[in-house]
Amino acid sequence: MKKSILITGASSGMGLANTIFFSRNGYLVFATYRSQKDGDELKKLKNVHPVKMDVTNVFDIQNAFTEVSGILGKDGLFAIINNAGINYTAPFEFVDEKRARQVMDVNIMAPYKITQVFIPLLKKHNAKNDTKARVVNIASWAGYLGQPFIPFYNASKAALIGLSESMYYDLGLLDIHVVLASPGVTKTPLLEKTTDDGIQNLRGFQKKARFFISHI
Ligand SMILES: NC(=O)c1ccc[n+]([C@@H]2O[C@H](COP(=O)([O-])OP(=O)(O)OC[C@H]3O[C@@H](n4cnc5c(N)ncnc54)[C@H](OP(=O)(O)O)[C@@H]3O)[C@@H](O)[C@H]2O)c1
Repeated sequence: MKKSILITGASSGMGLANTIFFSRNGYLVFATYRSQKDGDELKKLKNVHPVKMDVTNVFDIQNAFTEVSGILGKDGLFAIINNAGINYTAPFEFVDEKRARQVMDVNIMAPYKITQVFIPLLKKHNAKNDTKARVVNIASWAGYLGQPFIPFYNASKAALIGLSESMYYDLGLLDIHVVLASPGVTKTPLLEKTTDDGIQNLRGFQKKARFFISHI
């Protein structure tokens, strides 16, 4: 049986790149997506099994667990790459609480919940294999360095760094290795989404924040 990996946010950017990389190198990749169009594209890739999952939806996570368990049968899951992530650009003074919470839900609560739900499959892998299971959390340079206008992206990634360190010890007791990856700025659709979102938000704040508008 080939080693299998669950990759969240596989529709785009680094998640898609990792999906292509691992599937081409003989891994079975459970690639999560949200829109059917992305699911259909992922389906075309060899060794890729698309799994529908909004990472903030606990029912989706449970359903994904059931689906992946069913496909793996007696085998376990070798790795999880907690990759799905979003940014929200707004000066602190004008941060919208709902959107701030959404960033925290996607970037920090989802890696917690998904890993916790999938632990039984990681344990199952460990029971049969010498190369032990692992969880890779994708944080960011932004977890180490505060920047203007992305307060909750900074906060969520700093939190993910802390969570990963704690997971390293706790899951280490189960022989599950926890790896923290903190990429630098990488050309993916995220950068465009960040710029567009920032410009749109700052325009929305125009009446309140002429200072910011004059600087973009
Ligand atoms: N690009 C950079 O410069 C950079 C630097 C450091 C760290 N990172 C981190 O690297 C990771 C990947 O980012 P990227 O640059 O590849 O960005 P990206 O191209 O925008 O991809 C983000 C992925 O996350 C998914 N996603 C967002 N919200 C979701 C939700 N609620 N449920 C399920 N999936 C969701 C997106 O799915 P949809 O297509 O359905 O929206 C997409 O597949 C993120 O954690 C990001 O913070 C990026």
